[in-house]
Amino acid sequence: MTVLEKIGSPPARLGGSALYDWDYLVQEDRAHRLIYTDPAIFEVEMTNIFGGTWTYLAHESEIPRENDFITRRMGLRPLIIVRDGEGKNRALYNRCTHRGTTLCRWDKGNSKSFQCPYHGWNFLNTGRLRGVPWPEGYAADLRDPKYNLAQVPRVESYRGFIFGTLNLDALPLTEHLGPISTVIDEWLDRNPGGKVVVCEANRFRYKGNWKLAYDNSCDGYHVAYSHRSLLETENRFAGENAKGMAYYRNSPDTQPMYMRYTGHGNHFKDKRPNLEKRPGGLWALESAHPGMEHYESEFIKRYGDRAFALLDLAGSEPVNINVFPNFSLLGNHIQVFEPVSVEETNAIWYGTMIVDDNGKLDKDAVTDINALRMRTQEGFPNFGEVDDIANFEQIQRGLMAIEDEWVYMNRGFGIPGRVKTHEDGSITAPATDEAFMREHFKEWKRLMKTRANFAIQREP
Ligand code: FES
Ligand SMILES: [Fe+2]
Repeated sequence: MTVLEKIGSPPARLGGSALYDWDYLVQEDRAHRLIYTDPAIFEVEMTNIFGGTWTYLAHESEIPRENDFITRRMGLRPLIIVRDGEGKNRALYNRCTHRGTTLCRWDKGNSKSFQCPYHGWNFLNTGRLRGVPWPEGYAADLRDPKYNLAQVPRVESYRGFIFGTLNLDALPLTEHLGPISTVIDEWLDRNPGGKVVVCEANRFRYKGNWKLAYDNSCDGYHVAYSHRSLLETENRFAGENAKGMAYYRNSPDTQPMYMRYTGHGNHFKDKRPNLEKRPGGLWALESAHPGMEHYESEFIKRYGDRAFALLDLAGSEPVNINVFPNFSLLGNHIQVFEPVSVEETNAIWYGTMIVDDNGKLDKDAVTDINALRMRTQEGFPNFGEVDDIANFEQIQRGLMAIEDEWVYMNRGFGIPGRVKTHEDGSITAPATDEAFMREHFKEWKRLMKTRANFAIQREP
């Protein structure tokens, strides 16, 4: 039994969703600059989006043992994601119920309880207040649940990915993910045991709105221009066969790739259609990176016939999977978007390793594969992400031109037969189309308009 506290708008303040005419600000083919620049809109997003829909929090491999914890955020709320003593995943508010300071100042660790650094209140990792210094100074009954830590009332995992929402009306996570879960399954199932372990992160912060990153997450239009230096480097190595970024060197819409929108703001870009189903098929598509020929010949020397199947486990899956609003799987990485303010965002790239619980591979092979996965993770996140971030910062500057109000997302819009709607409701379009953006903005608008049924929860 837990106690739910319903959240309404604070008294004497207009509910955020009544602030604007959302249908005017986001139209079918264009969006108003204010949605990227207005702090009041950002504040509504921090409840209606980051809270109103399932938001990615952490991966189960980051808290594998009982009492492991890791500190994260949901929108601006500081959270402690913890696996409690009974193995249950919880998302505790990292906020002392006494006077509001953050309770845990560590990034991660293992603890059955958290002691507040300010006055020493002590909380169990279930969120319950265990004790306070010199309790005889209180007439109040400190066993009242209101002194227990707030927590996110709905925390669910999909195959190791932990999501949370405050919205009691949100669909169960698996239903919410719907068709995108098939692509997530494919991303996982090529690995031994169908799983990955999340490693340390490569962290970027940019001076721009968080949506600029999500708007870019499935964008195949910018690649040839924004990532020109990376593309030229790869083209020098790519030879006749386009692979990796080299796909985009000319007429990307005629290449074997497409985008698909699967609902609820989720979409993916798929460069797998010409992936050959043979050992080494995936490795053959791996983007050029320094030293890869050396690794390849080492693998052949060490593992003989098995070398190419093992190299496939190191190679990057050629698909970008985006779960609205803050989660992407790209190649071997997980990317998380973390809003800081209306004009500042963290873009965090987590590496992933394979594990071999069933002992199908030998130990050296696992180490070699994971070492090589690290090399692939040094590629795009270092040489490509910086190009994207430069654009996000320059868009934020450009949008300060107050009178020039609109940004356009109409590529592919209104051309008969170009964008296709399928029986399951999903939508496909050529790789450079902005259909994904038009669609995720419909979800954004739906959430911004909704007066959501929010709650936090406390232990009784
Ligand atoms: S603010 Fe945490 S004990 Fe006072
Ligand atoms: Fe990019």
